[in-house]
Order: sequence, then C-alpha cells, then structure tokens
Amino acid sequence: MKVLIVGGGGREHALAHKISQSKKVDKIYCAPGNGGISQIAECVDIKATDIKGMADFAQNAGIDLTVVAQDDPLALGMVDEFEKRGLAAFGPKKDAAIIESSKVFSKNLMKKYNIPTADYMVFDNKEDAASYLADKEYPIVIKAEGLALGKGVIIAQSYDEAKNAVDRIMDERIFGNAGDRIVIEQFLSGTEVSVLAFTDGNVIIPMVSAQDHKKIYDGDKGPNTGGMGAFSPSRIYDREAEKYCMEKIFVPTMRAMNAEGRKFKGVLYFGLIITDKGIFVIEYNCRFGDPEAQVVLPRLKGDLVEIMLALTEERLSDVTIQWDNRAAACVVMASGGYPGEYSKNLKIYGIEQAEKCDNVTVYHAGTKKAGNDFYTSGGRVLGVSALGDTLDEAVKKAYDAVGRISFENAYYRRDIGNPVK
Ligand code: AMP
Ligand code: GLY
Repeated sequence: MKVLIVGGGGREHALAHKISQSKKVDKIYCAPGNGGISQIAECVDIKATDIKGMADFAQNAGIDLTVVAQDDPLALGMVDEFEKRGLAAFGPKKDAAIIESSKVFSKNLMKKYNIPTADYMVFDNKEDAASYLADKEYPIVIKAEGLALGKGVIIAQSYDEAKNAVDRIMDERIFGNAGDRIVIEQFLSGTEVSVLAFTDGNVIIPMVSAQDHKKIYDGDKGPNTGGMGAFSPSRIYDREAEKYCMEKIFVPTMRAMNAEGRKFKGVLYFGLIITDKGIFVIEYNCRFGDPEAQVVLPRLKGDLVEIMLALTEERLSDVTIQWDNRAAACVVMASGGYPGEYSKNLKIYGIEQAEKCDNVTVYHAGTKKAGNDFYTSGGRVLGVSALGDTLDEAVKKAYDAVGRISFENAYYRRDIGNPVK
C-alpha cells in the first residue's frame, strides 16, 4: 500500500513512524513533511491546504490511503474532495470538521444534547457583548468563533480586560474572520485532560488519556504555545472518569453528530477539564492532538493502518485496539523566543545520540535536512518522546535524551509530566 500523510509537524512524524511499522505499507509520502519525516517518507512539496493539488497528487501517485492530520485542510473539505474522486481518505468531512472549526457550533451542539460544558452566550456585536459582561463574575473566557491556531481564547481577569478583548477580536480583528462572532463563557478551574477517540460514526473507541502543557514557561506560566510537551496516561483520569465520559460525553457526541446529519469519521479529540463539580468539555478537535499524538501513538500496539482502513470503511467494531501499559512523555525543544520572534536555520547537534537511548524517539516538528545535518525551521523544533515503566521513568528518559541534543538558544520546559495544578 501507498500512504500519504497531510501535514508537516511532530504529530505527522509520529503518524509516519507508526504507519511505517505496518506490514501493509510499502511506501509513505508526506506533504509537505519536514526534515525528520524525510528519513522515513518521501516529502512532497504541496501545501497542506492545497486541496486540489493534494488530490491530483494522490490520484497520479496511486495513493491507497491519505491521512489528513491537520485541522485546516479538514475544515476546508479535503476529505470531501478525495471522496468525490473515489480516493480513500482518513478524517472527517467538512460538515463534521465544523465541530472544531466553529466554537459556536460546538457549544450549541453540547447545549442541545446535554453534554456537560461551561455556560456561555454567543455575540455577533460588541455592544451586546459589553452589556452582558457588565454584571459577570471574573475571570471570564472570551473565544473567537473560528480557527485561530489555538490562540483565539482570552481569559479576562476583569471587566476592563474582557471589554478590551472583545474590542481586539471584533474591531481590530486580531484573529481575522475568526472574530466575526464570539463566545463568552464561564471560567472553569481544574485539570485539563485530552482524550482522543477513534470513531466511524457507529462506535467510538477512546484511546489512552494524555495531558499536554500549553504554556511556554514552567509552572504553566506565560503565553500559550502550540504545546511544550505531553504525557500519557493522565495522572487523574481514572476508570470512573472514563466510564462517566463514555456515557455522558463520548457516545452522546457521536450520536449528536449523527442526529445533526454530520456523521463524524476519524479521530475526535475531547479537551476535557476535571473540576470539583465534575468533568466538562472545553473543546473538541477533529484530529489527533499535537503533541498528544507523540505520547499516545507510541503506546498503540498493533497496526494503525488496519484501524484507519476499518474506520474509513465503517467497520471499526471489527477491530480490537490494544495499548502498551508503559507510560510515555514528550519534551518539546523550541527555538529561543518562541512563541514570539525566534531564529531559524540553526544547526542541530546530537539527535542520533539521543535516539541511542532506550525507548526514545525524536519526533521532528520544525526541522529541515541538508546533507546529513538537520537545521531548525520553526518555533517548535523537536519533540523528544520516551516510554517508561512509570510516568516518572518516562519523563526521566525523555530529559536524559534532551540533554544530548543542542542548538543555539534551545529552550524547553523542565517540568513536563509534573502535576502542575
Ligand atoms: P480552547 O481553544 O477552547 O481549547 O481553549 C484554549 C485553552 O483556554 C484551554 O486549553 C484552556 O486552558 C483555556 N480555556 C478555554 N475555555 C476555558 C474555560 N471555560 N475555563 C477555563 N479555561 C478555559
Ligand atoms: N494539543 C492541543 C491540540 O492539538 O490542539
């Protein structure tokens, strides 16, 4: 089989790595890919959002399965275009990907189907938003409606901060069209857990839980990033939580999408928050998380391609999915300055030495290859993942491997895997 992966970050490297272990697969392509991915796949220079270009390539190259891993091509309807041409593609169609691309849609869905989430109101003009904010309790959460690279959420500590956020989103358009409408919602305090699930619309099979670290500094301080590290399993998501989520959140969400005529096929990502008052959904994503994929996929036993084929063919109930009992941790190494300004083209040393450590895999997020050397090409550069018998052991192994890698101004958090809140 020939498999094409759409995307070019750490998550796509983790997918390529797992897919390369499948006996069914002879050749992997990745578009656009990156330096690390180019070691196991042929990278093709097509933008992930180029729907027509991607479908043309898949058709010409005789691709048997395309895995659309990134949110924006899914929201733009890449899977719809592939299906129209009779090409197999893994991921939700546009009308189901809306569960991530529109926060108004996802909040209204949860309300309609009684899926636990923070109370909220939707606004399409700033005057109404401002008067609503006047007698609220703070902090309060303000979200731009559309995709904003995970940055469209502002937690305001006071009325003035909230009003200012509304102005910036709706007037100054800091998130562009994503700010046409806003959601204002109740602030929930607790620990966030990510649970990714395979679903073909008939059954839903949750994967092992994970937690990611979104903030740039230790202790979960500073601005949000694309993710500075992750670990699996979560330290607090236990069997009872799993049972509750299956009954009250996972199955109801799958059924709700069916009832809306928007059958979801692919990986449904539940961003949950565990609070004193129960478990709530913070957000849905329509794909594997990044960096969650870098800790969940290494724990998957068996053949990912078999699961993906069964899912696209709507016979997911036929497959048994098994997990490695070991824990996994991933430490992201970033270029100094990220998520603000940072340098690129810095030579990276020590990846090979790091990969000599037991049970360590170095996933590339923003690298390019020149000759035998790797150079940085993005803010998040590498995700160093390790498996261990316990979470603490996995964390230690990941940091030992990180210690072997260097590039100018490399930055990483020192507290990945610690219970922060
Ligand atoms: P989202 O894009 O909706 O996942 O929001 C990004 C981040 O903002 C989440 O991971 C949370 O850390 C935070 N956040 C979003 N909504 C809430 C909420 N209602 N209460 C507390 N924190 C929130
Ligand atoms: N780790 C959060 C995300 O993938 O959106």
